[in-house]
Amino acid sequence: MKQYLKPDAWQIIEEGFDPHLNRISESVFSIGNGRMGQRANFEETYSGDTHQGSYVAGVYYPDKTRVGWWKNGYPEYFAKVLNAPSWIGIKIALDGESLDLAHCKVEDFRRVLDMKQGLLSRTFTATLPSGRKVKVDARRFVSMANGEVGAIRYHLVPLNFSAKARLTLSVDADVVNKDSNYDEKFWEEVYKESQMGWAMVTAATKKTNFHVCTGIEYQLILDGKTTRGKVYTNLREKYADNEVEVELKEGKDLIVFKYGVVLSSENHPKEYLANLCRAKLEEATATGFDKLLEAHVKWWAHKWEEADISIEGDIAAQQGIRFNIFQLMQTYTGEDERLNIGPKGFTGEKYGGSTYWDTEAYCLPFYLATSDPGVARNLLVYRYKHLPRAIENAKKLGYTSGAAFYPFVTMNGEECHNEWEITFEEIHRTSAMAYAMRDYIDYTGDWKYLTEFGLEVLIGISRFWSQRVNWSADKGKYVILGVTGPNEYENNVNNNWYTNYLGAWTLRFTQQAIDFVRKDNAGKYQELVQRLQFREQEETTRWADIVKNMYYPEDKTRGVYLQQDGFLDKELIKVADLRPEDRPLNQKWSWDRILRSCFIKQADVLQCIYLFEDDFSIDQIKRNFDFYEPMTVHESSLSPCVHVILASKLGYTEKAYEFYLRTARLDLDDYNNDTEDGCHITSMAGTWMAVVKGFGGMRVREGKLHFHPFIPPQWTSYSFRIEFRGRVIKVRVSKDKTDTILESGEPLDIVMNGKPVRVG
Ligand code: BGC
Repeated sequence: MKQYLKPDAWQIIEEGFDPHLNRISESVFSIGNGRMGQRANFEETYSGDTHQGSYVAGVYYPDKTRVGWWKNGYPEYFAKVLNAPSWIGIKIALDGESLDLAHCKVEDFRRVLDMKQGLLSRTFTATLPSGRKVKVDARRFVSMANGEVGAIRYHLVPLNFSAKARLTLSVDADVVNKDSNYDEKFWEEVYKESQMGWAMVTAATKKTNFHVCTGIEYQLILDGKTTRGKVYTNLREKYADNEVEVELKEGKDLIVFKYGVVLSSENHPKEYLANLCRAKLEEATATGFDKLLEAHVKWWAHKWEEADISIEGDIAAQQGIRFNIFQLMQTYTGEDERLNIGPKGFTGEKYGGSTYWDTEAYCLPFYLATSDPGVARNLLVYRYKHLPRAIENAKKLGYTSGAAFYPFVTMNGEECHNEWEITFEEIHRTSAMAYAMRDYIDYTGDWKYLTEFGLEVLIGISRFWSQRVNWSADKGKYVILGVTGPNEYENNVNNNWYTNYLGAWTLRFTQQAIDFVRKDNAGKYQELVQRLQFREQEETTRWADIVKNMYYPEDKTRGVYLQQDGFLDKELIKVADLRPEDRPLNQKWSWDRILRSCFIKQADVLQCIYLFEDDFSIDQIKRNFDFYEPMTVHESSLSPCVHVILASKLGYTEKAYEFYLRTARLDLDDYNNDTEDGCHITSMAGTWMAVVKGFGGMRVREGKLHFHPFIPPQWTSYSFRIEFRGRVIKVRVSKDKTDTILESGEPLDIVMNGKPVRVG
């Protein structure tokens, strides 16, 4: 854990340059716009420790799977989020001496991420080895208003010298992934050009053949006057630049405006990329930094109006929650149904693949409540579009008749994760897709989604469960054997309660969806029956039998559901009794020891109780929470948020707050010592849920909003905004009261602390 960032309500601030923290800051200060993004690398040369990273949404590389023992059914590849061409480089040489902070005395260093404006800035004074002193103010953003454009304003003042400066303004596609096997590079050059004032490189990914055209254009202002300088155009393999010579005068400003345009063949025909890039560069340059920034800031102002959470009385908590919201909005804006929410967003490349069950289980509620319903709908449609691949995936494992098994990790619908205990066994994820539909429908009332897309997916998933269960003559029940539940610290267990519950629930929900669609649109229903060769009578009869006779492990004496059949055979020890030097278990213990232990990585039984809270009495929730939480090590960033929500419901307010602190500042304080790899984007949605569903007690029941708020004693007040069925509602909770304010839309009946209230 590190606490070097300064508290501030709207900004993330690093003061003083510590090279040891640079990789962490590069992650934390990352910027993105849903289409592209980059780590907070320096524009000028930096020869110290750095992880250079730029990313373009939807562009990936299917790297060779690296496993010792091949298992039939393994995917052929592991999809890597690709480090993409970089447009930010502005190298500076002063009479031949390079400005490189690794070799300078750095003073007054300040890196700021202004979350209100979506602007990254960095100021410093550097003394080069020769004694030359420069002052720099660099600002950068990737435009939310124009997703293919980014801009830099780099302002340099020579404080104690005059010199010939050589600026190298580059676009560089010769980049490598940090996690590349065998140091392989994944880009090949297609086209490059460097002309006076601009340059571009089109590069193609090996195997997947995505083309990305990255262009730059710039303007120089020397001592208040536009200048061209003396320009040399250079081309190298996968690289193009302009080197520009200008005469710097002591105390006089040099301002470089550099514009970057990033176009992907996912959005434009390959043959037009270069021309289009040229046109967009001209347009960006003509618009200029200030106007581009103005439009970008306007976008953010509107977003904050929809999605802000404000906390009074606790600046660290305030900064934490805004940082989470900011990163989520930077990662996924919801206009493009082909995109999803990568666990690292645009902040790093760990976790190959872009889409996990995290999206459905953790992220959906955030986008549902803070954006137009179309955004969450696009996340559902994403999975609908992947249905043929989910069926293919199931087929590879031996399932038949249109059974759909969604991947644990994917880029394009195909499974691309290859650890047998997850790929084959963590099967509960396929039902997260079904749960997300229910969540979406509860929130929006859009049942018709089922008619248009949803039912087809549900039938596929139900066919999977129908084949995955087996009848146990011994138990006289259906069982689900050889699985991994959400708790990945146990593998190959039988009857993981969460998995059995989700499987049976999906079958029930599918029946409900069938009943709805048949009534809603009989013609469409018949068309589906034909196309899917759905033997309704036979298939639904079996589903109903499974629902009726599913086995759920339970300990009646303790009154708890059992995580799996063998859970009580374990030695039941509390986390509090572990020696501090044993933590975190995943770094200190052998896997063998972890698997046999009772310690739980993340909510498992409690995850199910959280999802289906209304199926359980308070007493049942309490008994399970009291039993499992003390054995939970929360070594997944997805764990604390679920515990905040349940602890809040149970009135364990201190515990709820303690869990909240672990999630809200996870990356800002580098809680798990791994922020340098990138931020934990999906768990950030969990932080939002912790406030709104946890402290705010928000639920949707039968189309109505319910709240049951409490305020952590450390706070004076907090408020959040949510969009709900055409309204924007602000909920403000203070020590002695809760106000609900209708900010737009028609009056709405809600339930506050169990009592009906009209808002508006
Ligand atoms: C968690 C999974 C999660 C994945 C990606 C793992 O550590 O156990 O539940 O899907 O991280 O966030």
